[in-house]
Amino acid sequence: MKGIILAGGTGSRLFPSTLALSKHLLPVYDKPMVFYPLSSLMLAGIREILLISTPRDLPSFQRLLGDGSDWGLSLHYAEQPIPKGLAEAFLIGRSFIGADGCALALGDNVFFGAEFSGRVGRAVRRSAGATIFAYRVRDPQRYGVVTLDDNDRVTGIEEKPARPRSNWAVTGIYFYDNQVVDISASICPSDRGELEITDVNKVYLDRGQLAVEKLARGFAWLDTGTPDGLLDAGEFVRTIENRQGLKIACLEEVAWRQGFIDAEAVLRLAHQRYPNSYGDYLRDLVSSAPAERTLSGTDTVADR
Ligand code: TTP
Repeated sequence: MKGIILAGGTGSRLFPSTLALSKHLLPVYDKPMVFYPLSSLMLAGIREILLISTPRDLPSFQRLLGDGSDWGLSLHYAEQPIPKGLAEAFLIGRSFIGADGCALALGDNVFFGAEFSGRVGRAVRRSAGATIFAYRVRDPQRYGVVTLDDNDRVTGIEEKPARPRSNWAVTGIYFYDNQVVDISASICPSDRGELEITDVNKVYLDRGQLAVEKLARGFAWLDTGTPDGLLDAGEFVRTIENRQGLKIACLEEVAWRQGFIDAEAVLRLAHQRYPNSYGDYLRDLVSSAPAERTLSGTDTVADR
């Protein structure tokens, strides 16, 4: 399966901080925001990834991430000149996707909690249909909202409903089979002029091919799109990292734990790039007991 990170948009809720810079390059505590969705895809085992952003910001992402080989990835880039909706990602990425399935990660979504990599990994392995992840929120009217039956099967899905029929918001990581390309090409822009991902999901629902996974209580799905959300997310990451001595969304660590790169590559990156505590962390990581690498099989950094 391939992956797309959508990191365009206007970031207007963060103006003036984002007047000259993509919000996805702002730090969430100790690393740029885009590291978080990138690590989510890596935890799912996805290595071929297309990053979509604005013509203004794309060169900065290229400077930051390069061709991805540092982390054992193959990174590609494409422009979205105007934010015409999340589903446009599959039209921009059509030739990149080819005949494969494709995951979409929104560039401003931070996930953290037990069993995350196992669950996204399972979504990748599901051969047909779509998988979305739902999270219980206090204010569902801001999101796509799913209703579920007693067996957690999706019975309905609505975009930003004025009167939500549940508290289950659709989060910003989605897994699709190859039908997603033609479905995205078949939907019309909504009243707000965007190709809505909810309309794509509705087609999968009508075909009986939309699976939902509920992210449990205790799991963190964080909003980084407002000044308060961004600061809260940074505080959250700082608190967990300092308490556990383990980083969240450290790309070198995730790549190493996933077996995309070896310990030597981690040490080289630490030496070349990070004359600071981030580098110390990487050095300690790979020089500690090798058993640390796979604490429990597929269990990786976000699971602990
Ligand atoms: P939004 O939060 O809906 O929009 P935004 O990031 O432009 O922010 P604001 O509302 O403050 O103006 O976008 C969610 C994510 O998807 C975010 O990471 C930006 C990205 N996005 C695109 O890359 N292209 C798009 O067409 C849209 C709608 C969003």
